Amino acid sequence: MKALVLTGVKEFEIQELPTPEIKPSEVLINTAYAGVCGTDHDLYAGRPGSAAAVPPIVLGHENSGVVAAVGAEVTGVKVGDRVAVDPNIYCGQCEYCLTQRPELCDHLSAVGVTRDGGLAEQFTAPATVVYKLPDNVSLKDAAAIEPISCAVHGVDLLKLRPYQKALIIGDGFMGQLFAQIVQAYGVHQVDLAGIFDEKLRRNQELFGVKNVFNTTREDVPTDAYDVIIEAVGLPQTQAQAVAAAKKGAQVLMFGVGPQEAHFEMNTYDIYKKQLTIQGSFINPLTFKDAISLLESGKMNVAPLISHELELEEVQDFLDGKIKGVSKAVVKVGR
Ligand SMILES: NC(=O)c1ccc[n+]([C@@H]2O[C@H](COP(=O)([O-])OP(=O)(O)OC[C@H]3O[C@@H](n4cnc5c(N)ncnc54)[C@H](O)[C@@H]3O)[C@@H](O)[C@H]2O)c1
Ligand SMILES: [Zn+2]
Ligand SMILES: [Zn+2]
Repeated sequence: MKALVLTGVKEFEIQELPTPEIKPSEVLINTAYAGVCGTDHDLYAGRPGSAAAVPPIVLGHENSGVVAAVGAEVTGVKVGDRVAVDPNIYCGQCEYCLTQRPELCDHLSAVGVTRDGGLAEQFTAPATVVYKLPDNVSLKDAAAIEPISCAVHGVDLLKLRPYQKALIIGDGFMGQLFAQIVQAYGVHQVDLAGIFDEKLRRNQELFGVKNVFNTTREDVPTDAYDVIIEAVGLPQTQAQAVAAAKKGAQVLMFGVGPQEAHFEMNTYDIYKKQLTIQGSFINPLTFKDAISLLESGKMNVAPLISHELELEEVQDFLDGKIKGVSKAVVKVGR
């Protein structure tokens, strides 16, 4: 099978690899689509994502495909099923797994990070992370289930209520997913702050976003929101997120900042406004919800997927040579 192998820091090679073997509890999948995201940028550059990737390794953690073979112990899916795969595999035995916080697992492994992923014609995964797709969810849209599931975990960590006004900071793929998800979870109003007029307008026209702010020329309102979701990962947008908080607000720090970065916030505000500052890491057991958001039509990702790449184009994408990308997926299968 054809595979794009990360062979070193910023080094990829197209290689012909043998069909991967499955254990009795595993599934072999013919890859259809693999989304590429900021985590792949980090892994490509030698920085860790949810875990470190040690070359040689096949990246690709946002995968959809068709089941090609199942191990003897697998009962949930069968050959020919269309599926999406949750990349994250938990040990089930550590302190965090035993206290219902598997995302914090001490022995996290992940398809496309610590074991070979979807940037190859075939890959394997334990049956416990393979989810059957409803008929009305396309294999291409299904490549967005993993990012949606991360956003679902973020909103799971908040207390969302119908009276709330929410602000999303960041008009990247994740910010635009959040704009739809918080509405699906019932908040009263969602506003969006970003840097691209066209994306901001699209979110008003297609996804029911009320007010938009282009932060290159407008200030983000302060003391104005019950819920703020930061989906950029920069100290200045993190500070903006806290400043936008009303009394009693919850701030979800979803963006991944540089490891050495800090941001400043007023210490008295935390007390006086009774703020909640909440982190969010990956996607524990949120795949079913993510699939349902697509199946029910409460979310629409097709207008956000701007590029369909070949395996041979992934390196150019990660080197920033492909411009104007909103979300890129790699069409792996024929
Ligand atoms: N917590 C998690 O589990 C998790 C999962 C996936 C992604 N993330 C993180 O979420 C963040 C967003 O992800 P993404 O895929 O959308 O990546 P992205 O790189 O597309 O997001 C950044 C986007 O923010 C916008 N932006 C940049 N500067 C801005 C500013 N000053 N004000 C407003 N908007 C600005 C731009 O549109 C940019 O594209 C990243 O930091 C990513 O690492 C976290
Ligand atoms: Zn990703
Ligand atoms: Zn564990």
